[in-house]
Amino acid sequence: MNSLQFLADPFTSAKNHSDRIMTVPQVLHLEHHLSAEPTVQPIPGITLRGFRDERDVATWLRLREQSFAAEPFRIRPWSAFEFRQHCQAAAWWNPCHVWFAEVMATNSQSAVPVGMVTLARRGGEAKGVPAVHWLAVLPEWRGKGIGRMLLTHLERRCWELGDRVVQVETHSAWKSALALYRRLGYVECRRRG
Ligand SMILES: CC(C)(COP(=O)(O)OP(=O)(O)OC[C@H]1O[C@@H](n2cnc3c(N)ncnc32)[C@H](O)[C@@H]1OP(=O)(O)O)[C@@H](O)C(=O)NCCC(=O)NCCS
Repeated sequence: MNSLQFLADPFTSAKNHSDRIMTVPQVLHLEHHLSAEPTVQPIPGITLRGFRDERDVATWLRLREQSFAAEPFRIRPWSAFEFRQHCQAAAWWNPCHVWFAEVMATNSQSAVPVGMVTLARRGGEAKGVPAVHWLAVLPEWRGKGIGRMLLTHLERRCWELGDRVVQVETHSAWKSALALYRRLGYVECRRRG
């Protein structure tokens, strides 16, 4: 994320001025130094796939909107135009670096996306420091290891590309995300790039 300040509206859940003071956003920069090739733990019934075609723009936008809807620090939904602006038009954009976690629907043969993560690059450059971009799992699918699976998959790809550090810009109110990042070894850092 380039800056949460323009992506998120800190006042969406505020009722009055004092609430606003209580909800001042605290952006956190974390990084993880990779000392060995990350191991992705498979989860029975969950598969990962890349970004296929333009129909996945709607998938990506829906996962982002629904995954953050219940968070205390809410974000404004993006339009397809904003997705193009912030992701597809960026120098770092690579559809092979967007992953969706999917589960087979019980009553059909179709796979249903339940989580996602995108690998971006700091500073918007193709050669910038790798950055986790919009990691999200739908609320009803949390606590099953999907977030960890997506994140370690992204890290393993970074490792394969020769990167040894991964950064993320997150928010102090996103407690589950912070817990996940810390569990995987992310520590606070200064933003690079
Ligand atoms: C953050 C998020 C992706 C985690 O997804 P998830 O699939 O539930 O996470 P996992 O089940 O893989 O959890 C992995 C580890 O993270 C930690 N963790 C995740 N959610 C947690 C929570 N609510 N409370 C405490 N620890 C938590 C745990 O240590 C867990 O491992 P453990 O169960 O072995 O202890 C999900 O909660 C989410 O989509 N949140 C809203 C969007 C968001 O904040 N994204 C990050 C933007 S930077």
